[in-house]
Amino acid sequence: MKEDQQAKLSRITGNARVISVTCLQWGDTGKGKIVDLLMASWADINARGTGGANAGHTVSINSKDYILHIIPSGILHDKEGKINAIGRGVAFDPYILNEELGILNKEGLSYNNLMISGNAKLVIPPQIALDRVHEAWSGKGKIGTTGKGIGPAYEDHAGRRGLVVNDLLNIDILAEKLKKNIREKLRILKSYDSELVSGIMEDRHLGKGRYYRPDEIFNADAIIEDYRRYGEQFRGMIHDVENFLRGQLGKKKILLEGAQGHLLSVDEGGAPHTTSSDCTVPGLVKGVGLRERDVDISFGVVKFPYMTRVGSGPMPTEIGGEKSGEWCNRDGAGREKEKEAFPETDINSPDEFIQGIALRQAGNEYGATTGRPRRVGWLDLPLLRYALQSAGAKIILTKADVLNNAREINICAEHEYQGPDYFYCGKILRAGTRLKIAIPGSEFLRFCRPVYEKFPGWETDISGISEFDGLPEKLKSLVRFVEKSANAEVAAVSTGKDREDTIFI
Ligand code: IMP
Repeated sequence: MKEDQQAKLSRITGNARVISVTCLQWGDTGKGKIVDLLMASWADINARGTGGANAGHTVSINSKDYILHIIPSGILHDKEGKINAIGRGVAFDPYILNEELGILNKEGLSYNNLMISGNAKLVIPPQIALDRVHEAWSGKGKIGTTGKGIGPAYEDHAGRRGLVVNDLLNIDILAEKLKKNIREKLRILKSYDSELVSGIMEDRHLGKGRYYRPDEIFNADAIIEDYRRYGEQFRGMIHDVENFLRGQLGKKKILLEGAQGHLLSVDEGGAPHTTSSDCTVPGLVKGVGLRERDVDISFGVVKFPYMTRVGSGPMPTEIGGEKSGEWCNRDGAGREKEKEAFPETDINSPDEFIQGIALRQAGNEYGATTGRPRRVGWLDLPLLRYALQSAGAKIILTKADVLNNAREINICAEHEYQGPDYFYCGKILRAGTRLKIAIPGSEFLRFCRPVYEKFPGWETDISGISEFDGLPEKLKSLVRFVEKSANAEVAAVSTGKDREDTIFI
């Protein structure tokens, strides 16, 4: 990072001991880049506390791009002796870690300081199968999960039938818990179409049929054998991460890496279209065993001036509306197919469906975990104000460069409710009600229409600009507008994918 930017960052971080980085939207805002930057210039330790292999961040290794799902985003700093930890709040899938360590081994990268909490939730094949069977069966009502077993893993935790990473080290305990878990899952899975279940069990992630037995669905012994091997392989990495982090407070600088986004939090997001962990700052802090008051600075990452959503659920500012949402969520949708169908697009197209595709292609908005096209929409301030109410974060705006060629920018300043009378916490909300702060529940949000403020685009390439003052006036006034109308401080604007392309203000 350039010296003046480092100085500005140092002024912002001051004497902070713990900094968190979470997304204030529906995920995919570029947290990975901010974590990498802070690992390079500030932190000694990076810890994850929420989500699991449903997350994904692209890292460039030896000029090749890889997508990592479970390994924390600071892993490239392992060689400098920096620690990456997976906390107790994470749904940890040993199959995925094994795959990702394979990539690091192949590329000659170290992971000597990677720690996994013994208390992290252990993802097991029956959870993955249940997640996929349930989604396949739900038809139009599906949530559009990533199929990584995240929902059932957290359900099992809350239902007191889950496994933890430490069980990998006590194979008899693991076997007993796994068999009990399978017995309970069978009651549900046997009620589904058996062909659907057996087809799903053919997946690589589920042992390519090795974990399947026609009579009992799961071959518990095959799973136990693989998990025993994972235990041997990961033995040296399994620690009491939570106690370790508590002991490092004030000695080492600790960065907390969020997963997904505030609006996907099971506690704060728009039910039922959420993930199953609490991916807000409090959830993250709990997931690594610290206290909320230990966090000195929270950075909230916000895509700007557009936003994205993966999977189902309402998105009031979706460019191209329902047609775009259905296009992105159709079976088999992906980057290549979209490029084939729409080789020429225009971000200024009067056809919003085409405009959405152009924006998605310009921002490379395709899911890191599933490859699905991300739905794109304009920045939604009522949802941002909602997230900020409890996040109280300093904002980092990302991906502004994606809209360098746009002639007009829309920002949603308010929601207008257009549905039937809705009883909400002692109030009746009627059609025509305007809201400055969103109500995120899907059954309400799906009737909310955006009220836009329109701004002229900056229509200039902003790459290489390293000072806020050097940015185009039109872009700066948009940043100030967001700051004022969301009543939050913008700490930085990211103008490209490299670490250098970050302007602290
Ligand atoms: P699950 O977390 O796989 O259960 O998926 C639940 C919802 O969260 C789906 O709509 C997913 O698309 C969404 N989701 C989960 N992880 C991410 C993420 O990392 N980025 C964006 N959306 C996500």
